[in-house]
Amino acid sequence: MRSLINIYVLTCIFTFTLWNNIQPTVEDEFIANYSSSLLTNVPKNIPVCTQVLDLSHNRISGLTISEFINLSDLQVLNLSHNLIAVFDFSVFIFNENLEYLDLSHNNISKVSCLTLAYLRHLDLSFNKFSALPICQEFGNMFHLEYLGLSATMIRTSDFRYIKHLQLHTVFLNLGNFSLYEPHSLTVLTTRNLHIAFAANQNFIFSLLYDGMSTSENLKIVNLRYTLSYKDFPSPSLMLLKKIKTTTLILDAVDLQWAIILQIFMLIWYSPVEHLIVRNLTFRGPLEELTEYAFLPLLSSVEKLISLEGSMKALTLEHVRNKVYYFNQEILYRQFSEMNIANLTIADAYMPHMLCPNRTSSFQYLNFSHNALTDELFQNCGTLGDLKLLILQKNKFESLLKVSFMTSRMKSLKYLDMSNNLLRHDGAGVQCQWAESLAELDLSSNQLVDAVFECLPVNVKKLSLHNNQISHVPSRVAELKSLEELNLASNRLADLPGCSGFTSLQFLNVEMNSILTPSADFFQSCPRVRELQAGHNPFKCSCELQAFIRFLLVTALLLTLLLVAVVAFLCIYLDVPWYMRMTWQWTQTKRRAWHNRPADQEAVLQFHAFISYSERDSPWVKNELIPNLERGEGCVQLCQHERNFIPGKSIVENIINCIEKSYRSIFVLSPNFVQSEWCHYELYFAHHKLFSENSNSLILILLEPIPPYLIPARYHKLKALMAKRTYMEWPKERSKRALFWANLRAAISINLPISSEANE
Ligand SMILES: *[C@@H]1O[C@H](CO)[C@@H](O)[C@H](O)[C@H]1NC(C)=O
Ligand SMILES: *[C@@H]1O[C@H](CO)[C@@H](O)[C@H](O)[C@H]1NC(C)=O
Ligand SMILES: *[C@@H]1O[C@H](CO)[C@@H](O)[C@H](O)[C@H]1NC(C)=O
Ligand SMILES: *[C@@H]1O[C@H](CO)[C@@H](O)[C@H](O)[C@H]1NC(C)=O
Ligand SMILES: *[C@@H]1O[C@H](CO)[C@@H](O)[C@H](O)[C@H]1NC(C)=O
Ligand SMILES: *[C@@H]1O[C@H](CO)[C@@H](O)[C@H](O)[C@H]1NC(C)=O
Ligand SMILES: *[C@@H]1O[C@H](CO)[C@@H](O)[C@H](O)[C@H]1NC(C)=O
Ligand SMILES: *[C@@H]1O[C@H](CO)[C@@H](O)[C@H](O)[C@H]1NC(C)=O
Ligand SMILES: *[C@@H]1O[C@H](CO)[C@@H](O)[C@H](O)[C@H]1NC(C)=O
Repeated sequence: MRSLINIYVLTCIFTFTLWNNIQPTVEDEFIANYSSSLLTNVPKNIPVCTQVLDLSHNRISGLTISEFINLSDLQVLNLSHNLIAVFDFSVFIFNENLEYLDLSHNNISKVSCLTLAYLRHLDLSFNKFSALPICQEFGNMFHLEYLGLSATMIRTSDFRYIKHLQLHTVFLNLGNFSLYEPHSLTVLTTRNLHIAFAANQNFIFSLLYDGMSTSENLKIVNLRYTLSYKDFPSPSLMLLKKIKTTTLILDAVDLQWAIILQIFMLIWYSPVEHLIVRNLTFRGPLEELTEYAFLPLLSSVEKLISLEGSMKALTLEHVRNKVYYFNQEILYRQFSEMNIANLTIADAYMPHMLCPNRTSSFQYLNFSHNALTDELFQNCGTLGDLKLLILQKNKFESLLKVSFMTSRMKSLKYLDMSNNLLRHDGAGVQCQWAESLAELDLSSNQLVDAVFECLPVNVKKLSLHNNQISHVPSRVAELKSLEELNLASNRLADLPGCSGFTSLQFLNVEMNSILTPSADFFQSCPRVRELQAGHNPFKCSCELQAFIRFLLVTALLLTLLLVAVVAFLCIYLDVPWYMRMTWQWTQTKRRAWHNRPADQEAVLQFHAFISYSERDSPWVKNELIPNLERGEGCVQLCQHERNFIPGKSIVENIINCIEKSYRSIFVLSPNFVQSEWCHYELYFAHHKLFSENSNSLILILLEPIPPYLIPARYHKLKALMAKRTYMEWPKERSKRALFWANLRAAISINLPISSEANE
């Protein structure tokens, strides 16, 4: 019975928590997002407090000063993917806080410049410029970090105005590129340089060479060259001395072998430490490879011994070979002999790799997603420094041969053999694993129970996820260091015992076929801290469990009933609303009793001042005012339009109104928050109108305000909304009488000199 009561208590707490958790989340900035709205002009009604304005993906073709003049807080403006043809920086002359301006993917061919001193990010890429749109004024934008540009030609003097700026990233989009005057780029000072050629045109090699002499990190997208490799100019060896790049990323490379080799040779003997080539297609002809490109360059390059050995990591991803015949041996020899720490060749259909001739410096090899077989690195004693070996998604079949492969890798700690075709039959020869191996991933293979006869003795973390294991033999396996064992998605019928795994801490046996877990599991596995065993068809048999089940079913039914009743009360009768309103009413009455108007309030002429957005005025005029001013109470309201004192500004009139009124009523709605709230913030801050116990403030929530509409700096409003210290305008007619009664009670007070109000 006690557990039944506990369940009730829990249910109540749960329901209550659900109730209270529906609260606004905190937004960091005031964002106005008009992205993809089919706009042809900048909209008129953008809230004046907007800091982030997203106008991207529209059909805007022109901008004017007046569209932005009132957005004095604007910091981020995204105008990308529009149809702007001529752009004049002076439209932002009044947006002094503008830091981020994205005008990429427009149709701009002409700019008129003006210094926007605080701009940090300016993107003019993917436009229709023929010359680079860099004007003299850019030279004064000392905060500039990111500059995106596009052009069809680059001339020597183009960067002269910005050569003194310390930029973070320069992006050059060179679609339909026709002219590059050598050395134009090298005057730039930028840490990252990103050059994108168009996919359908020949890239310009001197841009590659100059780019490498310009920036530490260089990325080039779309390197294609369809002319003969004989027309491709070899890099001069003088160039090597000027190269600054240490990380080079080449993306979407489609070149003939001879050209690729020239580029690689240049890079190999340059200061580049990290080379990443993604999406590489190489093409023929290949015959002249040795005579034409390879040997001469190699021999001249050998003289530059001092420069050798900068390269530390090479990554080749998605490699496609369009050459029908070539002797891959040369290639494998080149790769295996590389004096680098990290080598990744992934998704390259690579069927083989040679064992390095001499002691290799490889520490990390990642050959995932290739066509490697059991022959890899057999009897290979030169990979003594290798720590991590990743061979997932290949064609390995024999676990025995994999163990032989590792046997001479004295430093190997981590081996990933997942997603292969590995089997092990257990008969005959003993496996020989590297003793250092601590982490082994054998998931998604075809291994059965016999795998436990062939495991590295010192393994700490082992994954056998997604194999065909039905039973963990208790005698054979003796893995004293094993801490983490993943046996999920196998065919286990029972939990494994720990007689062989004395250190086991984490065990995963999810998605197996365990019906009745043996009770002695926790006795035999004293160190297990976490057991994941979900998605098993557990079956309970004993009477006690039947009893527990009965108890649970009863509790569940009762809980469902309780939830249904609460839900009914909430949805159909709206009990919480009535409760809140009644509570507010009693509070008002109690306060009214305690604080009678004091002497200092003698100047008050009005019961209340009403503030609202112009767009909510129909409601105020047709509902609020008639309902309050009608009847016995005869409430006097101050509206800044009606009780306007000529010769004073609107704000002065508002303040005047507030000061002469006993209460201030704010009609809150998304309109109000966007258009009016900022007018009052300052005033409130001064007059402590929002102090904790002030009861001069009445908030009416006319329409729900989504929390993201409330800018972060409106702390008070957020706090008030979170505390729900407002009256909600009920949509249902039946509830309105109570609402009005409540509101009138909140305002009702005897004005000391009420006759004056009607003058
Ligand atoms: C505006 O909305 C689009 C999706 O409609 C989204 O991708 C984009 O990130 C949003 N912009 C901002 C500034 O949140
Ligand atoms: C900008 O604000 C002023 C008042 O501050 C107003 O008169 C003007 O119409 C506003 N302009 C636009 C384009 O909204
Ligand atoms: C426009 O740029 C802003 C600022 O980087 C970004 O948050 C927003 O997602 C961009 N909009 C789209 C549709 O990409
Ligand atoms: C882009 O601008 C050119 C003139 O520079 C104009 O001929 C073309 O129609 C514009 N394209 C679009 C889509 O507006
Ligand atoms: C590329 O530029 C040339 C002039 O440099 C022009 O004649 C041609 O139309 C342009 N092509 C495209 C696709 O823009
Ligand atoms: C590789 O580049 C080709 C064009 O050369 C492109 O079609 C393909 O989508 C790219 N693949 C990847 C994975 O980036
Ligand atoms: C090599 O790879 C390892 C493991 O991913 C990484 O920790 C190390 O920083 C890499 N070394 C270099 C030089 O990139
Ligand atoms: C590497 O081994 C191959 C045979 O596999 C041999 O032809 C070559 O000369 C050796 N290279 C070095 C540097 O020992
Ligand atoms: C191996 O290389 C592939 C392709 O570059 C990469 O996605 C994967 O994360 C790498 N694996 C490890 C363990 O570093």
